[in-house]
Amino acid sequence: MTKNNAAADWWKQAVVYQVYPRSFYDANGDGLGDIRGVTERMDYLAALGVDAIWLSPFYPSPLVDGGYDVADYRNVDPRLGTLEDFDAMVAAAHGAGIKVVVDIVPNHTSTEHEWFRAALAAGPGSPERDRYIFRRGRGEAGELPPNGWKSTFGGPGWEPVGDGDWYLHLFAVEQADLNWKNPEVREDFKRTLRFWSDRGADGFRIDVAHALAKDLDSRPLDEWPDDPDQGHPGEENPLWDRPEVHEIYREWREVFNEYEPPRFAVGEAWVVPEHQWRYASVDELGQVFNFELAKANWMADELRLAIEDGLASAERSGSTTTWVLSNHDVPRHATRYGLPQVKSETHHQLVTDWLLRDGRTYREDRALGTRRARAALLMELALPGSVYLYQGEELGLFEVADIPWGALEDPEAAMSAHGDAIKGRDGCRVPLPWEALDETGAFGFSGPADHAPAHLPQPAWFAGHAVDVEEADDDSMLSFYRRALALRAEMLTAARSTELSWADGYDDQVIAFERPCADGRTLACVTNFGQEGVPLPAGEVVLASAPTEDGTLATDATAWVVR
Ligand code: NOJ
Repeated sequence: MTKNNAAADWWKQAVVYQVYPRSFYDANGDGLGDIRGVTERMDYLAALGVDAIWLSPFYPSPLVDGGYDVADYRNVDPRLGTLEDFDAMVAAAHGAGIKVVVDIVPNHTSTEHEWFRAALAAGPGSPERDRYIFRRGRGEAGELPPNGWKSTFGGPGWEPVGDGDWYLHLFAVEQADLNWKNPEVREDFKRTLRFWSDRGADGFRIDVAHALAKDLDSRPLDEWPDDPDQGHPGEENPLWDRPEVHEIYREWREVFNEYEPPRFAVGEAWVVPEHQWRYASVDELGQVFNFELAKANWMADELRLAIEDGLASAERSGSTTTWVLSNHDVPRHATRYGLPQVKSETHHQLVTDWLLRDGRTYREDRALGTRRARAALLMELALPGSVYLYQGEELGLFEVADIPWGALEDPEAAMSAHGDAIKGRDGCRVPLPWEALDETGAFGFSGPADHAPAHLPQPAWFAGHAVDVEEADDDSMLSFYRRALALRAEMLTAARSTELSWADGYDDQVIAFERPCADGRTLACVTNFGQEGVPLPAGEVVLASAPTEDGTLATDATAWVVR
């Protein structure tokens, strides 16, 4: 086991690799990635040098929302394997010195969950319905929704069940929101946390962690505007980021602390940076995703602010922050950085439009996107805190923009019918290419046996990014990731310090900071966003995202200099 993972607080400065199980590796050849696929590729993950893997949901699910519609929290989807496969995967991970983080989805269950079925059968006012958020509709026979709240995927947030009751779903109609005021709900999730902890899970990623506590009772529902953010000055939002949510996580902390070492959790909470710290406090989850890097463009001012916010939130929480460039919900950063850079508020729309038109509206400069992705990685890895990588970024994959509409799986695409068309998030969820030779029709994604087609179509250009090609190329993104992760572990993580000082003497087109190294030296990380070359500080360039010449760092590049 690596030194970092031997410590109880290993997660504070870890490199965590997100596995999207259905698209990682398919061991049984049915076109869908599986748990055995993760076990079979553990050597790859170990060679990459990650401290932990986080698996997106692998539970029984109708797969309406990529598995974030869970039908049974304490089991494995039979299409992905069995509980024994999970145990074998954990054993292989631990044997390789890698920790395992599983995804908990507490805001909603699938409507296929036994609780929801029971709620439908039991009828209005029943204890079974109280586990969810059922309310009477308006109108004489309850034929109108309780109010105009919307689902975040588009369309109405309430669904009628035919007897005058409606249930709330902040996401897809097949994802019914749970009532966290119900003690049975609270107890059941603690059981789930213990279930996976007992099976060897080292930590948890908490889905939509900021939505669990809701207040639907303090005023009549139809007094809320359709967008509750626009409502009632001075009042908390009834649905998101409510203060009571923290009581839940304090209870969970007691469960985490039943284990040795205590389990940790990272919350997915899309809240303003000033609120992140509470979720991350050591009395609660321990960590929260800081998405500010992922939201920022390739612009020095946006990224500097993102870093400052992350560091401030870490300081306030008494924990560490996290850094994320990509995940299964956002377009891949090698593409984002290769599209025109406009301020982040408008960039999201630009990328959405680009996807909607199959990637044909703006020119995607892939060489530029790749160059910046390399520079971004070195900057990210030099920061104090944990780094969450998303599968495929180590291969330099771009967003697949031209998946035909008929092949899309994301409910966001299906919900387009309710308003603005949107292609959704499948472009970053395409199964990984393992071999350039496309003999199996899936770039080696599927193991032997039948070779059913990959569940999302892979583009021909995946061949150039296949693992076997990149392993053989010292200049590939994969080789670069391996080198960078190894150096980070040896020089920075081993120092176990979270100190960072900004380096002086650069203009605002440069982000430069210094960190203490394990061997007592100092590492300077310098990123150049400007058009002109920038002189590097004196010292040894131990790694650079692009060649440095005569001590000069070119544009869109990062260097690590040790002295
Ligand atoms: C956040 C997950 O990351 C996303 O993929 C999912 O659609 C929503 N939560 C709803 O569970």
